[in-house]
Amino acid sequence: MPRLGLGTSPMGNDQTERAVADAIEAGYRLIDTAEAYGNEVGVGKGIKASGVAREELFVTTKFDRHWHGRELAAEGYQASLDRLGLEYVDLLLIHWPNPQFDRYAQAFQGLADLLEAGRLKAVGTSNFKPAHLDRVIAETGVVPDVNQIQLSPAVTRVETRAYHQQHGIVTESWSPLGGQGVAVLTQPVIQDIAREIGRTPAQIILRWNIELGLVTIPKSSDPERIRQNIGIFDFSLTPEQVAAISALDHGEQAAVDSDEFGH
Ligand code: A2P
Repeated sequence: MPRLGLGTSPMGNDQTERAVADAIEAGYRLIDTAEAYGNEVGVGKGIKASGVAREELFVTTKFDRHWHGRELAAEGYQASLDRLGLEYVDLLLIHWPNPQFDRYAQAFQGLADLLEAGRLKAVGTSNFKPAHLDRVIAETGVVPDVNQIQLSPAVTRVETRAYHQQHGIVTESWSPLGGQGVAVLTQPVIQDIAREIGRTPAQIILRWNIELGLVTIPKSSDPERIRQNIGIFDFSLTPEQVAAISALDHGEQAAVDSDEFGH
């Protein structure tokens, strides 16, 4: 799995098509979308427009709660493939646990069935907390390959990351630049490190993700920022710089609560 990819929320189909083509041209090989973003069609078109072979790309999508069920999962997957115009995705995620509907473990069993049938390369979850993951693993005997969570210097998810590490689950960060939440790009600590090493604040934050061993998917629709955001593999941060950025954590209360929200 590539270490950095393009996040596509929020973007409409036309904007997504352009951004995906720009990103692939800039060297991105991981593209992240979801049924709920309403832009899988744009992702598919952007991929075709890029001219890069499908097998060189790593495409992720996620389905919503109406597909939470062992058989329904296959239907939800096929609906995404039809919109994407692809034969398979590399990684399929359950978008939110929606614990109030109590069907996420059955949905994950559906994903495990698809994996076993060779219909995709990897399966996982998004916005799951350790308690949700515990249940999925206990009920299906399958460990998600990836859990994609909101993670930035303001929400560093220490406990969830420790859980992932213990179980061999890849941590993927959505809204690594803070998205609509707490502003992180303008934090003096980030700005100072950026000045010190001659990089942009966004590059500092994305490199911090790499130093922590994470996969990250910054969203941008701007060609220059898309290029800037992948330019993080020719420098590194010191352990002190990593610690200073991690100290910006505002705790879990700064995060979107996966028990309350979900598609
Ligand atoms: P834009 O799409 O206009 O570039 P996140 O991935 O954390 O949700 O952040 C996405 C937000 O950050 C978007 O508003 C995006 O705007 C902006 N953004 C993306 N890359 C950069 C960058 N390199 N510098 C500043 N802002 C950025």
